[in-house]
Amino acid sequence: MTVMAKPEIKTARAMVDAPELAPAKLPKPELLSVEDAKALDVPRMTELFKAHLNPGQLHFMKLLGFHKVKIERAEGMYYVDQNGRKILDFFGGFGSLAFGHNHPRILEARKKFQDEKRHEIAIAFMSQYAAAFAHNLAQCSPGDLDMVFLGSSGSEAMEAAVKLAERAAGPKRPKMVYAENSFHGKTKGVLAITDGQLYRADFRLPGDNVRVPFGDIDAIERAFRSDPEIGAIVLETVQGGGGIVQAPAEFWVKLRALCDQYGVIWVADEVQCGFGRTGRFYAFEHYGVVPDITALAKSLGGGKTAMAAMIARREIYMKAYGAPKTAMIHAAATFGGIGEASITAIEAMNILYDEGLIDNAADTGAYLLERLNALKDKYPKIIKDVRGRGFMVGLEFQDFSRTLPMVLRPLVGVLDDKLKGSLSGFVGALLLRDHDVLVAFTEYNRNVIRLEPPLICGREHVDAFVDALDTLLGRGIVAIVKDFVKSQMS
Ligand SMILES: Cc1ncc(COP(=O)(O)O)c(C=O)c1O
Repeated sequence: MTVMAKPEIKTARAMVDAPELAPAKLPKPELLSVEDAKALDVPRMTELFKAHLNPGQLHFMKLLGFHKVKIERAEGMYYVDQNGRKILDFFGGFGSLAFGHNHPRILEARKKFQDEKRHEIAIAFMSQYAAAFAHNLAQCSPGDLDMVFLGSSGSEAMEAAVKLAERAAGPKRPKMVYAENSFHGKTKGVLAITDGQLYRADFRLPGDNVRVPFGDIDAIERAFRSDPEIGAIVLETVQGGGGIVQAPAEFWVKLRALCDQYGVIWVADEVQCGFGRTGRFYAFEHYGVVPDITALAKSLGGGKTAMAAMIARREIYMKAYGAPKTAMIHAAATFGGIGEASITAIEAMNILYDEGLIDNAADTGAYLLERLNALKDKYPKIIKDVRGRGFMVGLEFQDFSRTLPMVLRPLVGVLDDKLKGSLSGFVGALLLRDHDVLVAFTEYNRNVIRLEPPLICGREHVDAFVDALDTLLGRGIVAIVKDFVKSQMS
Protein backbone atom coordinates (compact mmCIF):
# COMPACT_ATOMS: atom_id res chain seq x y z
CA MET A 1 0.00 0.00 0.00
CA THR A 2 1.39 3.35 -0.98
CA VAL A 3 1.16 6.05 1.60
CA MET A 4 0.34 9.44 0.16
CA ALA A 5 2.56 12.19 1.48
CA LYS A 6 0.59 14.79 3.36
CA PRO A 7 0.64 18.11 1.55
CA GLU A 8 2.62 20.68 3.39
CA ILE A 9 0.34 23.20 5.03
CA LYS A 10 1.66 26.66 4.34
CA THR A 11 1.36 29.40 6.86
CA ALA A 12 0.05 32.77 5.82
CA ARG A 13 3.61 34.12 6.05
CA ALA A 14 4.97 31.40 3.75
CA MET A 15 2.28 32.22 1.20
CA VAL A 16 3.31 35.85 1.10
CA ASP A 17 6.96 34.89 0.57
CA ALA A 18 5.98 32.71 -2.41
CA PRO A 19 8.33 29.80 -3.18
CA GLU A 20 10.27 29.80 -6.41
CA LEU A 21 8.12 28.60 -9.28
CA ALA A 22 9.22 25.62 -11.32
CA PRO A 23 9.95 26.40 -14.97
CA ALA A 24 6.79 26.29 -17.10
CA LYS A 25 6.13 22.92 -18.70
CA LEU A 26 3.40 24.02 -21.07
CA PRO A 27 4.68 25.58 -24.25
CA LYS A 28 3.51 29.17 -24.60
CA PRO A 29 1.01 29.67 -27.43
CA GLU A 30 1.83 32.32 -30.02
CA LEU A 31 0.65 35.23 -27.98
CA LEU A 32 0.95 38.85 -28.97
CA SER A 33 2.45 41.12 -26.35
CA VAL A 34 1.08 44.47 -25.24
CA GLU A 35 3.70 46.19 -27.41
CA ASP A 36 2.72 43.97 -30.36
CA ALA A 37 -0.90 45.02 -29.87
CA LYS A 38 -0.02 48.72 -29.87
CA ALA A 39 2.04 48.27 -33.03
CA LEU A 40 -0.58 46.42 -35.15
CA ASP A 41 -1.16 48.20 -38.46
CA VAL A 42 -4.56 48.64 -40.10
CA PRO A 43 -4.35 45.60 -42.45
CA ARG A 44 -3.35 43.28 -39.58
CA MET A 45 -5.99 44.78 -37.25
CA THR A 46 -8.57 44.19 -39.98
CA GLU A 47 -7.43 40.59 -40.37
CA LEU A 48 -7.71 39.92 -36.63
CA PHE A 49 -11.01 41.76 -36.33
CA LYS A 50 -12.43 39.59 -39.14
CA ALA A 51 -10.95 36.39 -37.77
CA HIS A 52 -11.87 36.83 -34.12
CA LEU A 53 -14.22 39.70 -33.38
CA ASN A 54 -17.10 40.68 -35.64
CA PRO A 55 -16.60 40.36 -39.39
CA GLY A 56 -20.08 41.71 -40.16
CA GLN A 57 -19.46 44.88 -38.15
CA LEU A 58 -16.55 45.72 -40.41
CA HIS A 59 -19.05 46.14 -43.23
CA PHE A 60 -20.58 49.14 -41.43
CA MET A 61 -17.20 50.63 -40.57
CA LYS A 62 -16.37 50.46 -44.28
CA LEU A 63 -19.56 52.28 -45.26
CA LEU A 64 -18.47 55.21 -43.12
CA GLY A 65 -14.75 55.06 -43.88
CA PHE A 66 -14.03 54.32 -40.22
CA HIS A 67 -12.10 51.16 -41.12
CA LYS A 68 -9.08 53.16 -42.31
CA VAL A 69 -8.46 54.78 -38.95
CA LYS A 70 -6.17 53.51 -36.23
CA ILE A 71 -6.24 55.61 -33.09
CA GLU A 72 -2.82 55.97 -31.50
CA ARG A 73 -3.62 58.38 -28.69
CA ALA A 74 -6.51 60.33 -27.24
CA GLU A 75 -6.48 63.45 -25.12
CA GLY A 76 -9.23 65.87 -24.08
CA MET A 77 -11.59 66.50 -26.99
CA TYR A 78 -9.43 64.71 -29.57
CA TYR A 79 -8.37 61.35 -30.92
CA VAL A 80 -5.03 61.23 -32.73
CA ASP A 81 -4.78 58.71 -35.57
CA GLN A 82 -1.85 56.84 -37.13
CA ASN A 83 -1.05 59.81 -39.36
CA GLY A 84 -0.98 62.32 -36.53
CA ARG A 85 -4.41 63.68 -37.56
CA LYS A 86 -6.44 65.13 -34.68
CA ILE A 87 -10.09 64.07 -34.76
CA LEU A 88 -12.58 66.22 -32.84
CA ASP A 89 -14.81 63.89 -30.81
CA PHE A 90 -18.49 64.86 -30.95
CA PHE A 91 -19.44 61.17 -30.67
CA GLY A 92 -18.08 60.91 -27.13
CA GLY A 93 -18.60 57.13 -26.94
CA PHE A 94 -22.39 57.64 -26.84
CA GLY A 95 -21.92 59.71 -23.68
CA SER A 96 -19.10 57.71 -22.10
CA LEU A 97 -16.50 60.45 -22.18
CA ALA A 98 -17.79 63.28 -20.00
CA PHE A 99 -14.23 64.14 -18.95
CA GLY A 100 -12.76 63.86 -22.41
CA HIS A 101 -10.04 61.35 -23.14
CA ASN A 102 -7.49 60.63 -20.42
CA HIS A 103 -8.35 63.38 -17.97
CA PRO A 104 -5.12 64.05 -16.00
CA ARG A 105 -6.78 63.88 -12.56
CA ILE A 106 -8.30 60.51 -13.39
CA LEU A 107 -4.98 59.15 -14.68
CA GLU A 108 -3.26 60.42 -11.54
CA ALA A 109 -5.80 58.86 -9.15
CA ARG A 110 -5.49 55.51 -10.91
CA LYS A 111 -1.69 55.62 -10.98
CA LYS A 112 -1.50 56.43 -7.26
CA PHE A 113 -3.91 53.60 -6.47
CA GLN A 114 -1.70 51.19 -8.43
CA ASP A 115 1.54 52.49 -6.92
CA GLU A 116 0.10 51.98 -3.44
CA LYS A 117 -0.74 48.37 -4.38
CA ARG A 118 -4.37 48.71 -3.28
CA HIS A 119 -6.68 45.72 -3.57
CA GLU A 120 -9.30 45.24 -6.29
CA ILE A 121 -11.72 42.41 -5.56
CA ALA A 122 -14.16 43.15 -2.79
CA ILE A 123 -16.12 39.97 -2.23
CA ALA A 124 -14.77 38.67 1.07
CA PHE A 125 -14.30 41.99 2.85
CA MET A 126 -16.16 45.26 2.67
CA SER A 127 -14.56 47.72 0.27
CA GLN A 128 -13.80 51.21 1.53
CA TYR A 129 -13.76 52.36 -2.13
CA ALA A 130 -17.19 50.94 -3.02
CA ALA A 131 -18.63 52.29 0.24
CA ALA A 132 -17.31 55.81 -0.42
CA PHE A 133 -18.49 55.72 -4.02
CA ALA A 134 -21.99 54.62 -2.98
CA HIS A 135 -22.02 57.50 -0.46
CA ASN A 136 -21.15 59.92 -3.28
CA LEU A 137 -23.93 58.56 -5.48
CA ALA A 138 -26.47 58.93 -2.69
CA GLN A 139 -25.23 62.51 -2.09
CA CYS A 140 -25.84 63.39 -5.75
CA SER A 141 -29.24 61.71 -5.89
CA PRO A 142 -32.40 63.52 -4.79
CA GLY A 143 -35.01 62.21 -2.35
CA ASP A 144 -34.35 58.87 -0.74
CA LEU A 145 -32.50 57.40 -3.73
CA ASP A 146 -29.94 56.07 -1.29
CA MET A 147 -29.31 52.40 -2.02
CA VAL A 148 -26.71 51.49 -4.61
CA PHE A 149 -25.87 48.37 -6.62
CA LEU A 150 -22.59 48.49 -8.55
CA GLY A 151 -21.91 46.72 -11.83
CA SER A 152 -19.87 47.06 -14.98
CA SER A 153 -22.27 47.96 -17.79
CA GLY A 154 -25.46 49.88 -18.38
CA SER A 155 -27.19 46.63 -19.23
CA GLU A 156 -26.12 45.15 -15.90
CA ALA A 157 -27.36 48.19 -13.97
CA MET A 158 -30.66 48.06 -15.83
CA GLU A 159 -30.95 44.30 -15.19
CA ALA A 160 -30.53 45.09 -11.50
CA ALA A 161 -33.18 47.81 -11.80
CA VAL A 162 -35.84 45.61 -13.42
CA LYS A 163 -35.13 42.70 -11.07
CA LEU A 164 -35.47 44.99 -8.07
CA ALA A 165 -38.69 46.47 -9.48
CA GLU A 166 -40.13 43.00 -10.07
CA ARG A 167 -39.36 41.81 -6.56
CA ALA A 168 -40.60 44.99 -4.93
CA ALA A 169 -43.81 44.96 -6.99
CA GLY A 170 -44.48 41.40 -5.91
CA PRO A 171 -45.43 38.19 -7.76
CA LYS A 172 -48.93 39.35 -8.66
CA ARG A 173 -47.63 42.36 -10.62
CA PRO A 174 -44.84 41.07 -12.89
CA LYS A 175 -45.65 43.10 -16.03
CA MET A 176 -43.71 46.16 -17.10
CA VAL A 177 -44.62 49.08 -19.31
CA TYR A 178 -41.92 50.24 -21.73
CA ALA A 179 -41.74 52.71 -24.60
CA GLU A 180 -41.64 52.50 -28.35
CA ASN A 181 -38.08 53.05 -29.62
CA SER A 182 -36.66 52.31 -26.18
CA PHE A 183 -33.15 51.02 -25.61
CA HIS A 184 -32.18 49.56 -22.24
CA GLY A 185 -29.39 47.14 -23.19
CA LYS A 186 -28.78 43.86 -24.95
CA THR A 187 -28.77 41.31 -22.11
CA LYS A 188 -31.81 39.06 -22.14
CA GLY A 189 -33.75 40.57 -19.27
CA VAL A 190 -33.68 44.14 -20.52
CA LEU A 191 -34.07 43.03 -24.12
CA ALA A 192 -37.67 42.30 -23.17
CA ILE A 193 -38.20 46.04 -22.65
CA THR A 194 -35.94 47.20 -25.50
CA ASP A 195 -38.04 47.96 -28.54
CA GLY A 196 -35.62 47.50 -31.45
CA GLN A 197 -36.34 44.49 -33.64
CA LEU A 198 -32.68 44.44 -34.62
CA TYR A 199 -31.68 43.59 -31.05
CA ARG A 200 -34.72 41.50 -30.13
CA ALA A 201 -34.20 39.38 -33.25
CA ASP A 202 -35.74 35.94 -32.64
CA PHE A 203 -34.80 35.61 -28.99
CA ARG A 204 -37.40 34.15 -26.67
CA LEU A 205 -38.50 37.02 -24.47
CA PRO A 206 -41.38 37.36 -22.06
CA GLY A 207 -44.15 38.70 -24.25
CA ASP A 208 -46.46 40.05 -21.58
CA ASN A 209 -44.92 43.48 -21.15
CA VAL A 210 -46.86 46.47 -22.40
CA ARG A 211 -45.46 48.85 -25.03
CA VAL A 212 -46.68 52.45 -25.21
CA PRO A 213 -45.66 55.44 -27.37
CA PHE A 214 -42.92 57.44 -25.62
CA GLY A 215 -44.38 60.46 -23.84
CA ASP A 216 -48.02 59.33 -24.20
CA ILE A 217 -49.45 59.78 -20.70
CA ASP A 218 -52.97 58.75 -21.76
CA ALA A 219 -51.70 55.42 -23.07
CA ILE A 220 -49.90 54.86 -19.79
CA GLU A 221 -52.95 55.70 -17.73
CA ARG A 222 -55.09 53.34 -19.85
CA ALA A 223 -52.53 50.56 -19.32
CA PHE A 224 -52.31 51.13 -15.54
CA ARG A 225 -56.10 51.29 -15.21
CA SER A 226 -56.87 48.22 -17.30
CA ASP A 227 -54.11 45.86 -16.18
CA PRO A 228 -53.60 45.30 -12.44
CA GLU A 229 -50.66 43.01 -13.19
CA ILE A 230 -48.52 45.99 -14.21
CA GLY A 231 -45.98 46.57 -11.43
CA ALA A 232 -43.38 48.84 -13.05
CA ILE A 233 -42.75 51.27 -15.87
CA VAL A 234 -39.29 51.67 -17.41
CA LEU A 235 -38.41 54.76 -19.44
CA GLU A 236 -35.27 56.53 -20.60
CA THR A 237 -35.65 60.12 -19.42
CA VAL A 238 -34.29 61.21 -22.80
CA GLN A 239 -34.39 58.55 -25.49
CA GLY A 240 -30.91 58.20 -26.95
CA GLY A 241 -31.10 55.32 -29.44
CA GLY A 242 -34.53 56.57 -30.46
CA GLY A 243 -32.90 59.72 -31.85
CA ILE A 244 -32.70 62.13 -28.86
CA VAL A 245 -36.37 62.35 -27.97
CA GLN A 246 -37.71 64.22 -24.93
CA ALA A 247 -41.11 64.39 -23.27
CA PRO A 248 -42.46 67.65 -21.79
CA ALA A 249 -42.28 68.46 -18.06
CA GLU A 250 -45.99 67.87 -17.54
CA PHE A 251 -45.59 64.30 -18.80
CA TRP A 252 -43.12 63.50 -16.02
CA VAL A 253 -45.16 65.24 -13.34
CA LYS A 254 -48.26 63.28 -14.37
CA LEU A 255 -46.26 60.07 -14.62
CA ARG A 256 -45.10 60.44 -11.02
CA ALA A 257 -48.67 61.09 -9.89
CA LEU A 258 -50.02 58.09 -11.84
CA CYS A 259 -47.33 55.80 -10.45
CA ASP A 260 -48.25 56.91 -6.92
CA GLN A 261 -51.96 56.47 -7.61
CA TYR A 262 -51.62 52.93 -9.04
CA GLY A 263 -48.67 51.81 -6.91
CA VAL A 264 -46.48 51.30 -9.99
CA ILE A 265 -42.68 51.51 -9.62
CA TRP A 266 -41.04 54.04 -11.96
CA VAL A 267 -37.59 53.07 -13.25
CA ALA A 268 -35.73 55.95 -14.95
CA ASP A 269 -32.96 54.77 -17.25
CA GLU A 270 -30.31 57.50 -17.06
CA VAL A 271 -27.49 55.39 -18.48
CA GLN A 272 -27.04 57.73 -21.42
CA CYS A 273 -28.69 60.98 -20.36
CA GLY A 274 -27.58 61.02 -16.71
CA PHE A 275 -24.37 62.07 -14.97
CA GLY A 276 -24.56 65.72 -15.95
CA ARG A 277 -25.04 65.29 -19.69
CA THR A 278 -28.24 67.33 -19.99
CA GLY A 279 -27.16 70.07 -17.57
CA ARG A 280 -28.43 68.47 -14.35
CA PHE A 281 -26.93 65.46 -12.57
CA TYR A 282 -30.00 63.43 -13.60
CA ALA A 283 -32.15 64.47 -16.56
CA PHE A 284 -35.33 63.89 -14.50
CA GLU A 285 -34.24 66.73 -12.20
CA HIS A 286 -35.27 69.20 -14.91
CA TYR A 287 -38.86 68.22 -14.12
CA GLY A 288 -38.80 68.34 -10.32
CA VAL A 289 -39.73 64.67 -9.94
CA VAL A 290 -37.94 61.67 -8.46
CA PRO A 291 -38.25 58.08 -9.75
CA ASP A 292 -38.20 54.99 -7.55
CA ILE A 293 -35.19 53.42 -9.22
CA THR A 294 -32.60 54.79 -11.63
CA ALA A 295 -29.41 53.65 -13.35
CA LEU A 296 -26.15 55.26 -14.47
CA ALA A 297 -23.20 53.92 -16.47
CA LYS A 298 -21.07 55.23 -19.36
CA SER A 299 -19.21 58.33 -18.03
CA LEU A 300 -19.50 57.09 -14.46
CA GLY A 301 -16.22 55.28 -15.15
CA GLY A 302 -14.48 58.57 -15.96
CA GLY A 303 -13.95 57.45 -19.55
CA LYS A 304 -11.32 55.07 -18.25
CA THR A 305 -13.09 52.11 -16.75
CA ALA A 306 -16.31 50.08 -16.86
CA MET A 307 -18.59 51.25 -14.05
CA ALA A 308 -22.34 51.22 -13.66
CA ALA A 309 -24.78 51.78 -10.83
CA MET A 310 -28.39 51.17 -9.99
CA ILE A 311 -29.69 53.59 -7.37
CA ALA A 312 -32.97 52.91 -5.61
CA ARG A 313 -35.24 54.37 -2.96
CA ARG A 314 -34.36 52.72 0.32
CA GLU A 315 -37.90 51.56 0.97
CA ILE A 316 -38.07 49.73 -2.37
CA TYR A 317 -34.65 48.20 -1.92
CA MET A 318 -35.38 46.95 1.59
CA LYS A 319 -38.64 45.40 0.43
CA ALA A 320 -36.78 43.30 -2.14
CA TYR A 321 -33.41 42.51 -0.56
CA GLY A 322 -33.49 43.96 2.96
CA ALA A 323 -33.38 40.75 5.04
CA PRO A 324 -30.36 38.41 5.39
CA LYS A 325 -32.50 35.74 3.68
CA THR A 326 -32.95 37.92 0.58
CA ALA A 327 -29.75 39.96 0.65
CA MET A 328 -27.80 37.67 -1.66
CA ILE A 329 -30.44 37.27 -4.35
CA HIS A 330 -28.89 40.04 -6.37
CA ALA A 331 -25.68 41.04 -4.58
CA ALA A 332 -22.87 42.51 -6.69
CA ALA A 333 -21.19 40.30 -9.31
CA THR A 334 -17.47 39.48 -9.19
CA PHE A 335 -16.36 42.83 -10.56
CA GLY A 336 -19.12 44.98 -9.09
CA GLY A 337 -17.48 47.93 -7.31
CA ILE A 338 -13.91 46.69 -7.67
CA GLY A 339 -11.21 48.94 -6.27
CA GLU A 340 -9.70 50.90 -9.13
CA ALA A 341 -13.05 51.28 -10.92
CA SER A 342 -14.59 52.67 -7.72
CA ILE A 343 -11.83 55.19 -7.06
CA THR A 344 -11.92 56.23 -10.72
CA ALA A 345 -15.63 56.93 -10.35
CA ILE A 346 -15.05 58.78 -7.05
CA GLU A 347 -12.49 61.02 -8.74
CA ALA A 348 -14.81 61.48 -11.74
CA MET A 349 -17.67 62.66 -9.51
CA ASN A 350 -15.40 65.16 -7.79
CA ILE A 351 -14.16 66.52 -11.12
CA LEU A 352 -17.74 66.85 -12.36
CA TYR A 353 -18.34 69.48 -9.65
CA ASP A 354 -14.80 70.94 -9.24
CA GLU A 355 -14.66 71.79 -12.94
CA GLY A 356 -18.29 72.90 -13.22
CA LEU A 357 -18.92 70.37 -15.99
CA ILE A 358 -22.67 70.09 -15.40
CA ASP A 359 -23.02 73.87 -15.74
CA ASN A 360 -20.84 73.73 -18.83
CA ALA A 361 -23.10 71.09 -20.36
CA ALA A 362 -26.07 73.41 -19.77
CA ASP A 363 -24.41 76.60 -21.04
CA THR A 364 -22.22 75.37 -23.88
CA GLY A 365 -24.91 72.84 -24.83
CA ALA A 366 -27.36 75.75 -25.23
CA TYR A 367 -24.80 77.47 -27.45
CA LEU A 368 -24.50 74.29 -29.57
CA LEU A 369 -28.27 74.17 -29.99
CA GLU A 370 -28.36 77.89 -30.87
CA ARG A 371 -25.73 77.48 -33.57
CA LEU A 372 -27.36 74.35 -34.98
CA ASN A 373 -30.74 76.08 -35.10
CA ALA A 374 -29.14 78.89 -37.10
CA LEU A 375 -27.84 76.22 -39.49
CA LYS A 376 -31.32 74.75 -39.73
CA ASP A 377 -32.65 78.16 -40.79
CA LYS A 378 -29.88 78.38 -43.38
CA TYR A 379 -30.50 74.88 -44.81
CA PRO A 380 -34.22 74.19 -44.34
CA LYS A 381 -34.25 71.69 -47.20
CA ILE A 382 -31.49 69.64 -45.56
CA ILE A 383 -32.04 69.94 -41.79
CA LYS A 384 -35.46 68.97 -40.51
CA ASP A 385 -35.04 69.31 -36.75
CA VAL A 386 -32.55 70.17 -34.03
CA ARG A 387 -33.37 68.98 -30.52
CA GLY A 388 -32.00 67.95 -27.16
CA ARG A 389 -30.64 69.45 -24.02
CA GLY A 390 -27.13 70.15 -22.75
CA PHE A 391 -24.70 67.90 -24.56
CA MET A 392 -27.28 65.38 -25.68
CA VAL A 393 -28.29 66.76 -29.04
CA GLY A 394 -29.92 65.27 -32.12
CA LEU A 395 -29.81 66.73 -35.61
CA GLU A 396 -32.39 65.24 -37.94
CA PHE A 397 -31.99 65.51 -41.69
CA GLN A 398 -34.84 65.62 -44.17
CA ASP A 399 -35.49 62.22 -45.72
CA PHE A 400 -34.33 62.86 -49.26
CA SER A 401 -35.14 59.45 -50.75
CA ARG A 402 -38.06 61.00 -52.62
CA THR A 403 -36.63 64.45 -53.28
CA LEU A 404 -33.28 63.38 -54.72
CA PRO A 405 -32.92 64.36 -58.40
CA MET A 406 -33.87 61.48 -60.73
CA VAL A 407 -30.35 61.28 -62.19
CA LEU A 408 -28.88 60.41 -58.82
CA ARG A 409 -31.36 57.74 -57.79
CA PRO A 410 -29.63 54.87 -59.59
CA LEU A 411 -26.39 55.90 -57.88
CA VAL A 412 -27.95 55.74 -54.40
CA GLY A 413 -29.75 52.55 -55.35
CA VAL A 414 -26.49 50.62 -55.33
CA LEU A 415 -25.73 51.61 -51.74
CA ASP A 416 -26.30 49.52 -48.66
CA ASP A 417 -29.93 49.56 -47.47
CA LYS A 418 -28.95 51.37 -44.28
CA LEU A 419 -27.81 54.38 -46.28
CA LYS A 420 -30.77 54.77 -48.62
CA GLY A 421 -32.61 58.01 -47.98
CA SER A 422 -30.30 58.82 -45.11
CA LEU A 423 -28.07 61.86 -45.21
CA SER A 424 -26.67 61.23 -41.75
CA GLY A 425 -24.36 58.42 -42.91
CA PHE A 426 -23.09 60.51 -45.84
CA VAL A 427 -22.57 63.59 -43.69
CA GLY A 428 -20.90 61.60 -40.89
CA ALA A 429 -18.52 59.90 -43.31
CA LEU A 430 -17.54 63.16 -45.02
CA LEU A 431 -17.21 65.05 -41.73
CA LEU A 432 -14.59 62.52 -40.70
CA ARG A 433 -12.83 62.29 -44.06
CA ASP A 434 -12.69 65.99 -44.90
CA HIS A 435 -13.13 67.82 -41.61
CA ASP A 436 -11.62 65.54 -38.93
CA VAL A 437 -14.83 65.44 -36.90
CA LEU A 438 -16.47 62.32 -35.47
CA VAL A 439 -20.23 62.14 -34.87
CA ALA A 440 -22.58 59.30 -33.88
CA PHE A 441 -25.67 57.79 -35.45
CA THR A 442 -28.79 56.09 -34.11
CA GLU A 443 -30.15 52.69 -34.94
CA TYR A 444 -33.83 53.58 -34.79
CA ASN A 445 -33.80 56.78 -36.82
CA ARG A 446 -31.33 56.70 -39.67
CA ASN A 447 -31.83 60.40 -40.40
CA VAL A 448 -30.44 61.54 -37.06
CA ILE A 449 -26.91 62.44 -36.08
CA ARG A 450 -26.30 62.11 -32.36
CA LEU A 451 -24.01 64.65 -30.72
CA GLU A 452 -22.69 63.75 -27.29
CA PRO A 453 -19.35 65.52 -26.92
CA PRO A 454 -17.41 65.34 -23.65
CA LEU A 455 -18.73 67.75 -21.02
CA ILE A 456 -15.38 69.59 -21.17
CA CYS A 457 -16.38 70.81 -24.65
CA GLY A 458 -15.84 74.56 -25.05
CA ARG A 459 -17.39 77.12 -27.39
CA GLU A 460 -14.31 76.89 -29.61
CA HIS A 461 -15.01 73.19 -30.17
CA VAL A 462 -18.68 73.90 -30.90
CA ASP A 463 -17.59 76.54 -33.43
CA ALA A 464 -15.12 74.13 -35.07
CA PHE A 465 -17.80 71.46 -35.37
CA VAL A 466 -20.62 73.72 -36.62
CA ASP A 467 -18.32 75.54 -39.07
CA ALA A 468 -17.25 72.17 -40.52
CA LEU A 469 -20.88 71.08 -40.86
CA ASP A 470 -21.76 74.42 -42.47
CA THR A 471 -18.97 74.05 -45.03
CA LEU A 472 -20.06 70.52 -45.85
CA LEU A 473 -23.78 71.29 -46.15
CA GLY A 474 -22.92 74.38 -48.23
CA ARG A 475 -21.84 72.02 -51.00
CA GLY A 476 -25.47 70.95 -51.42
CA ILE A 477 -27.10 67.54 -51.31
CA VAL A 478 -26.23 66.56 -54.87
CA ALA A 479 -22.50 67.17 -54.39
CA ILE A 480 -22.53 65.39 -51.00
CA VAL A 481 -24.31 62.35 -52.39
CA LYS A 482 -22.10 62.14 -55.49
CA ASP A 483 -18.93 62.48 -53.42
CA PHE A 484 -20.05 59.84 -50.95
CA VAL A 485 -21.14 57.34 -53.60
CA LYS A 486 -17.82 57.85 -55.40
CA SER A 487 -15.95 57.13 -52.15
CA GLN A 488 -17.87 53.86 -51.83
CA MET A 489 -16.85 52.80 -55.32
CA SER A 490 -13.11 53.43 -54.80
C1 LIG B 1 -30.37 54.29 -22.20
C2 LIG B 1 -29.43 53.12 -22.19
N1 LIG B 1 -29.66 52.11 -21.32
C3 LIG B 1 -28.84 51.04 -21.27
C4 LIG B 1 -27.74 50.94 -22.10
C5 LIG B 1 -26.86 49.74 -22.03
O1 LIG B 1 -25.58 50.10 -21.61
P1 LIG B 1 -24.32 49.18 -21.91
O2 LIG B 1 -24.02 49.29 -23.38
O3 LIG B 1 -23.22 49.76 -21.07
O4 LIG B 1 -24.67 47.80 -21.50
C6 LIG B 1 -27.48 51.96 -23.00
C7 LIG B 1 -26.34 51.87 -23.91
O5 LIG B 1 -26.19 52.57 -24.88
C8 LIG B 1 -28.34 53.09 -23.06
O6 LIG B 1 -28.14 54.08 -23.91
